[in-house]
Amino acid sequence: MTTRPLNILLTGGTGYIGSHTAVVLQEAGHCVFIYDNFCNSDPAVSHTLQKITGQPFKTIQGDIRDTALLQQTLETHHIDAVIHFAGLKAVGESGTIPVDYYANNVQGTISLLQAMQAASNQPKTLVFSSSATVYGDPQYLPIDESHPTKATNPYGRTKLHIEEILGDLARADNTWRIACLRYFNPVGAHASGLIGENPNGIPNNLMPFVAQVAVGKLKQLNVFGDDYDTPDGTGVRDYIHVMDLAEGHLAALNYLGRSVGADSATNIHTFNLGTGRGYSVLEMVKAFESASARSVPFHIAPRRAGDIASCYASTALAAEQLGWTAKRDLQAMCDSSWYFQQNVSTSTGR
Ligand code: NAD
Ligand code: WQD
Repeated sequence: MTTRPLNILLTGGTGYIGSHTAVVLQEAGHCVFIYDNFCNSDPAVSHTLQKITGQPFKTIQGDIRDTALLQQTLETHHIDAVIHFAGLKAVGESGTIPVDYYANNVQGTISLLQAMQAASNQPKTLVFSSSATVYGDPQYLPIDESHPTKATNPYGRTKLHIEEILGDLARADNTWRIACLRYFNPVGAHASGLIGENPNGIPNNLMPFVAQVAVGKLKQLNVFGDDYDTPDGTGVRDYIHVMDLAEGHLAALNYLGRSVGADSATNIHTFNLGTGRGYSVLEMVKAFESASARSVPFHIAPRRAGDIASCYASTALAAEQLGWTAKRDLQAMCDSSWYFQQNVSTSTGR
């Protein structure tokens, strides 16, 4: 089902997930506006997006805590809906600078909601980037949306606080339409190889680390523990292709569009976005070696503090309500990630 073309604001739209979603939305006929302070992205991404889609992207440089600029942006561009990606996302760092995480993620979201409420055009459709990290150590697998939440680090707690704020808002005002999307482990890149995940410094996450080992930028992978209760002893995660994830946002927007007129009990919705299938660290290494035709040397290191053994999604609710399921397989995730990594290394010499 298609909806009328919307003016959609992406906070954090030059980041990893936002940039891929921008392509999907623009190609679906929507008009995309990006709002980002570039604290973890490159302003040049908006030109790259234009190159990919052949259409211009209006990008506004600003912080989500700047309520006045946000309000002005919402009004000037007649924004119908906001997808809220902007936030700090490094779990380890959130333990060392928790106040910055609460200020950026929670205070930033409150500022966005204030701007949306104050804007004369009253955009009240919001899709929020939540995370599977809100489930903590799983009590059962696959994890469905009713699984108890228990974040185990400040980053995860910012996501939980924001979900609660959005729930309160939806209950207080039934004209809002809100979707909280709990992403599992996004990986891969756009087929063009022009956008992808290119973290500053040493990557925290497995896939960019493996890609940088394969390309020769890093020497070897540290596999964090091989004594978990999993088939090969290494951690199992639900890796989802970032393009599938991006399409999940389009499906969520369409769903919110269809739910206009719903009663107040149903104006906030929470969905897992995952594949429902877990892969171990060693399976990921093998798949990447095959995609890149390079070897990925590794050694077994101690467990990383806070890690869990296994985590994968129940995808039933998103399939049933959004009509969305992930389509791309592990090979496509590794192929696209490798293609992007080679492009980055060639163009930047790093
Ligand atoms: P990212 O860091 O690549 O993108 C986030 C973007 O937000 C960046 O472009 C950054 O410059 C911008 N930003 C941050 N703070 C801002 C602020 N105060 N004002 C304006 N812009 C700001 O991260 P991503 O991987 O694309 O993640 C997007 C969202 O999805 C985040 O909210 C993240 O917590 C969530 N998420 C990510 C993952 C993952 O593994 N990548 C998993 C689950 C959830
Ligand atoms: C995956 C597996 C590691 C790096 C994190 C956040 C989560 C979400 C997604 C935002 C684990 C192992 C990793 C390495 C390794 N982000 N690993 N060596 O921890 O599942 O999730 O990103 O919301 O909140 O916690 O992802 O990619 O870091 O790790 O062995 O150098 O790879 O132990 O088993 P994680 P990850």
